[in-house]
Amino acid sequence: MTDSPISTQLHHDILVVTSNNPPVNALGLAVRQGLVAAIAEAEANDAVKAVVITCVGQTFFAGADVSEFGTPKAFEQMLPTVVDIIEGCSKPVVSAIHGTALGGGLEVALASHYRVAVPTAKFGVPEVKLGILPGAGGTQRLPRVAGVPLALEMATTGKMISAKEASAAGLIDRIIEGDLLQHAVAFAEEVKDIRPLPISSAKQDKVSSVDPSVFDDFRKANARKFKGFDAPEANIQCIEAATKLPYAEGVNVERTKFMELMSGIQAKAQQYFFFAERKASKIDGIADDVKPRAINKVGVLGAGTMGGGIAMNFLSAGIPVTIVEMAQEALDRGTGVIRKNYEASAAKGRFTTEQVEGAMGLLSPTLDFGALADCDLVIEAVYENMDVKKEIFTKLDATVKQGAILASNTSYLNIDEIAAVTSRPQDVVGLHFFSPANVMKLLEVVRGAKTADDVLVTAMQLAKRIKKVAVVAGVCYGFIGNRMLIPRHREAEKLLLEGATPAQIDKVHVDFGMPMGPFQMGDLAGVDIGWHRDPTRIETLRDALCAIDRWGQKKGAGFYDYDDKRRPTPSPVVQQIIEDFSAKKGIERREISDEEIVQRTLYTMVNEGAKILEEGMAQRASDIDVVWIYGYGWPVYRGGPMFWADTEGLQKIVDGLKAQEARMGSDFSFSQLLLDKAAKGEKFTR
Ligand code: 3HC
Repeated sequence: MTDSPISTQLHHDILVVTSNNPPVNALGLAVRQGLVAAIAEAEANDAVKAVVITCVGQTFFAGADVSEFGTPKAFEQMLPTVVDIIEGCSKPVVSAIHGTALGGGLEVALASHYRVAVPTAKFGVPEVKLGILPGAGGTQRLPRVAGVPLALEMATTGKMISAKEASAAGLIDRIIEGDLLQHAVAFAEEVKDIRPLPISSAKQDKVSSVDPSVFDDFRKANARKFKGFDAPEANIQCIEAATKLPYAEGVNVERTKFMELMSGIQAKAQQYFFFAERKASKIDGIADDVKPRAINKVGVLGAGTMGGGIAMNFLSAGIPVTIVEMAQEALDRGTGVIRKNYEASAAKGRFTTEQVEGAMGLLSPTLDFGALADCDLVIEAVYENMDVKKEIFTKLDATVKQGAILASNTSYLNIDEIAAVTSRPQDVVGLHFFSPANVMKLLEVVRGAKTADDVLVTAMQLAKRIKKVAVVAGVCYGFIGNRMLIPRHREAEKLLLEGATPAQIDKVHVDFGMPMGPFQMGDLAGVDIGWHRDPTRIETLRDALCAIDRWGQKKGAGFYDYDDKRRPTPSPVVQQIIEDFSAKKGIERREISDEEIVQRTLYTMVNEGAKILEEGMAQRASDIDVVWIYGYGWPVYRGGPMFWADTEGLQKIVDGLKAQEARMGSDFSFSQLLLDKAAKGEKFTR
């Protein structure tokens, strides 16, 4: 096979099998066929004494080819058979690992008789993130080689471990300093005559006398993390089987559970999300040759919670930041919070002291607006007020060097209006970080009418550099994420007046898989956000709560009462306010079903998402899902609101909304795109 991604070359008596399947050496059909042919070649040639499997490019095999899942190719020359053939080779097979040995890639390595790796190599079984489990013997070989506790942790979280950790666990036989291939061949020479061959599937010492309580303890300790997900439990059961059953029977358990998971909706949702996340960084209609601008120095305006969090992203990536405030006290407080956050992370082992000092050393706090002049990017992170933003952008325009990018962190306001006060609207863009900005992965990049292509390309690349997932949004109130919150909150509050309680509505959302419901979220963010600050003007439920100081968790009271540990309980005071409000508005209270809550809060979000799509405010439905999963904790096993809507069936969504249309009144209007797609039997995402 001349065009096979697998080639072989004899180095004296060692057969070097090389995979060249960019970008990540995924184990697609051609690679699997090539590996089988290479092992057959090694068996057939008496001159071959051992085999080295290696990959060129950025990484060792990064796993099965996910794009093959569900296609006929996935059922040809299947990976479980391939790895058995590798393990069954009568000559020693050595996997030589660089980059990331992930999933099926690690399974190839585990089936090899020996594993050597460069110090920077990483190892993992991320299948759980795709809603599945290592299905090529991984759940059986990994605990046998690396032990049950590590196998449990790796398989249920998808977490990668370093070469050092892998070596300590017995997962690799040698760390190679210097040229990987040269040393791997030398290693193969060393072991070529050793018999019997070390066979991972035959190892019993690490699985034979495991205390069965380990598994239940592990389940209990991680119950919250695994809630709602099917795959972690299936992974645990397979590893448990490895400790109770002979290898061949354990593999049968693995196969059965793999097929069960693979045919379920969670795996489809999580695999869809894998590609959705990667697609999000691609901007439609921009030529591939548009070059990003260089960003070597960033300015942040405002050292509050948002500004400080934003600054940390760049500092952590090694990019110097000038942070500007109006008053020394605010500047000192902001700088102090940044240091405190870094030190807290260091205490948890996420940073070394040197890294903390390194990051802090890149920070220049100042009261001098003029210090922003030589920044390549300035991000404004002051409070939400159009007049204030316009004043700031006028000043930025006069101060900051030409060619710099001027960004606003606004979460709602019109970027075009802000850009219009400058002489360079093409350099203005929205960079909407989510709070806490140093933690949340999502970045909405708001494309103004005049934003230049290279500004957008720069923003998307920069997002990667600071480890964010960026999604492009158009200019509309609340962009993608917050815009979809609007109908949800509106209907949730109306439902309270019609008879539901905050606890009932929140429970529906939490049971659905959201980290919290609308009222828990309101209390956390602050009920007073956007409040007019006049306690005598009471037009809404929120006005009534704010007027009596129930501003949320920060005041110990909001929609719920809070104890000193911030644990919520339903509030009789709030219940009375709600009932009084209903009476005042002449609303007859009734029993509200959970189904109605779903239809009026979640279905309305889908409808809003469809409007966002039809107005071109999101490039694709999957971008909306990325926003909701990374920005608001929508359960990834439901694939995001648009994927979920497809799963429910768009006609069901339309019917549910129609059933509630009269109650929602003039606040609600249908998305034509949703109606059309439902009528045609189409989907948003597939
Ligand atoms: N299958 C198919 N395509 C893959 C892939 C895979 N396993 N892994 C990555 N790709 C593609 C991506 O879609 C992307 O394509 P694009 O350029 O067209 O958008 C390209 O490779 C580069 O990927 P990234 O943008 O993610 O590159 P990074 O350098 O940031 O990360 C990586 C590299 C760490 C390898 C990361 O891609 C990754 O984590 N991949 C997934 C690994 C994985 O989940 N493996 C398990 C697969 S399931 C399995 O093995 C089942 C088995 O047990 C039977």
